[in-house]
Amino acid sequence: MKKIDYVLITLGMAAMVLAASCAQHTGDSSRQNSAGAVIENIMTRTSVRQFTSRPIAKDTLETIVRAGMAAPSAMNKQPWAFVVVTEKEMLDSLRAVHPYSNLKTATAAIVVCGDLEKAIEGFGREYWIQDCSAATENILLAAHALGLGAVWCGVYPNPNVMPQVARVLGLPSWVIPLNIITMGYPADESQPKDKWNPENVHDQRW
Ligand SMILES: Cc1cc2nc3c(=O)[nH]c(=O)nc-3n(C[C@H](O)[C@H](O)[C@H](O)COP(=O)(O)O)c2cc1C
Repeated sequence: MKKIDYVLITLGMAAMVLAASCAQHTGDSSRQNSAGAVIENIMTRTSVRQFTSRPIAKDTLETIVRAGMAAPSAMNKQPWAFVVVTEKEMLDSLRAVHPYSNLKTATAAIVVCGDLEKAIEGFGREYWIQDCSAATENILLAAHALGLGAVWCGVYPNPNVMPQVARVLGLPSWVIPLNIITMGYPADESQPKDKWNPENVHDQRW
């Protein structure tokens, strides 16, 4: 190999390494920029219970449900189903069976359900609750990021409310409603609560 070829090959390889390193750094810094926004979104989320009459666009609701499905789940079973309710009659029917659902002014509700046919068998079956809770938090955070307000209204394990919600939605027996997330555009500015409590943190051991 001529000396000039050797120099050209070495220069080419150095350029490739430099380009890869720059790409890595650009990725890191843009992730750092968005990290601030993500943390801000988490820290400013709060339950919202009063809404304006402005409807939520279909694609906005789809984005929110996509965020729900991006949640982690045990063994990646994704044992969930989401019932998206926007019809006034259906919202009213849900409100009739859930006394604390804040559905009076909500323009939409997403009912997060566990699908036991997709759940792990044996004791791991109960992971569906954690999986669906993770999806729920993703939905709450996505709604907040999109300028919506929302609140998690518990259904499972309330023995009075669960069958009623299942009946209203026509759920099959293996699908369990975990909660109703009521949502809409906020009617007022709700202030997030400061829940930081260092007493709840233990260093290495209790
Ligand atoms: C499992 C669960 C069940 C809840 N059920 C209801 C409910 O039925 N009605 C309601 O208005 N809020 C409900 N909430 C919302 C809580 O009241 C709220 O998250 C809590 O007061 C903390 O306030 P924040 O969400 O503004 O931080 C529920 C929350 C969780 C996690």
